[in-house]
Amino acid sequence: MEEKLRILEEEFKADLSQSKTQEELDALKVKYLGRKSKLNDLFSLIPALSREEKSIFGKNLNILKNKISQKLDQSSNSEERQEELIDLTYPAKPMANGYQHILSHVTEQICSVFEGLGFSVVEGGEIEDEWHNFSALNIPAEHPSRDVFDTFYMELKEKDKGKYLLRSHTSPTQIRVMSSLTPPVAVISPGRVYRPDEVDATHSFMFNQVEGFAVDEDINFSHLKGALLHFARSFFASSVNLRFRPHFFPFTEPSAEVDVSCVICGGKKNNSVNQRCSVCKGKGWVEVLGCGMIHPNVLEACGINSRKYKGFAFGMGIERLTMLKYGINDIRLFYDNDQRFLKQFQV
Ligand code: DAH
Repeated sequence: MEEKLRILEEEFKADLSQSKTQEELDALKVKYLGRKSKLNDLFSLIPALSREEKSIFGKNLNILKNKISQKLDQSSNSEERQEELIDLTYPAKPMANGYQHILSHVTEQICSVFEGLGFSVVEGGEIEDEWHNFSALNIPAEHPSRDVFDTFYMELKEKDKGKYLLRSHTSPTQIRVMSSLTPPVAVISPGRVYRPDEVDATHSFMFNQVEGFAVDEDINFSHLKGALLHFARSFFASSVNLRFRPHFFPFTEPSAEVDVSCVICGGKKNNSVNQRCSVCKGKGWVEVLGCGMIHPNVLEACGINSRKYKGFAFGMGIERLTMLKYGINDIRLFYDNDQRFLKQFQV
């Protein structure tokens, strides 16, 4: 009797080592544990045995039955069998490569146009004090932009209260650079700025600007016009024109706001209601930046002799330039991190 059990176990082991697939394992289950299996045949021998034999043989038979069913289960779950389900010839999933955000790309484009003219890139800090953000830029104490409704002041310890702020423009970089370097200098400085504005399609509490300035003995307004026209034609299209409108900024004198001929409709002034360009509203021009000759007070605040040196400066919004160039109508799209939007500008 015991011999029968041993032979059956050997047979099972041999069969198991030959079985690879799940189907083969299922067939083994039927063969060894099924109703018509050899194991069941052995069970049917029990009634004919003596009492003593019955208990020993019955016990051993059950042990073998459990062993077989355990081994079959193990084999079904074994890692090798799982591996069989993995098709190694299946093409791998493509790795998603990262790409530059459109604003970073445009920032680099702008900087490289000015680098081509000999400007150096300098990044300022986002936390400034009142001196660099306002006073040194000739912005008087009562100027509305200093109001808490227009600038984020940092609430630090009592003694520093109101002293530090999140810069509201990139112009403080002018002060930082001009205070530490002797002219000639030509710098282009991109970065984030902060204003407590209500967020809508054209406003955000944080956005990016780029500041540019050049200081030397013989700098005049035509250098400014030449640099900006070169920039506009490199950045938008060689066909665009610029229009300088007199304006006021505390830190430049004279100052101007600059419009670019509309890059969407080509500057055609079309005022018939249903054909009016949605970007320039039929005016043919779109405002893109502020600029001017650096105010003597600003040069002096930085320790530069304003009788000897002159300089020009300009500042522009990177989101605004990007929206114009690519026909984007909502500033919030830049910050939502929606890949469906961002992927369109993958370069
Ligand atoms: N700082 C100005 C702003 O944020 C932009 C600006 C205008 C910068 C004229 C300049 C400039 O350097 O000359 O609105």
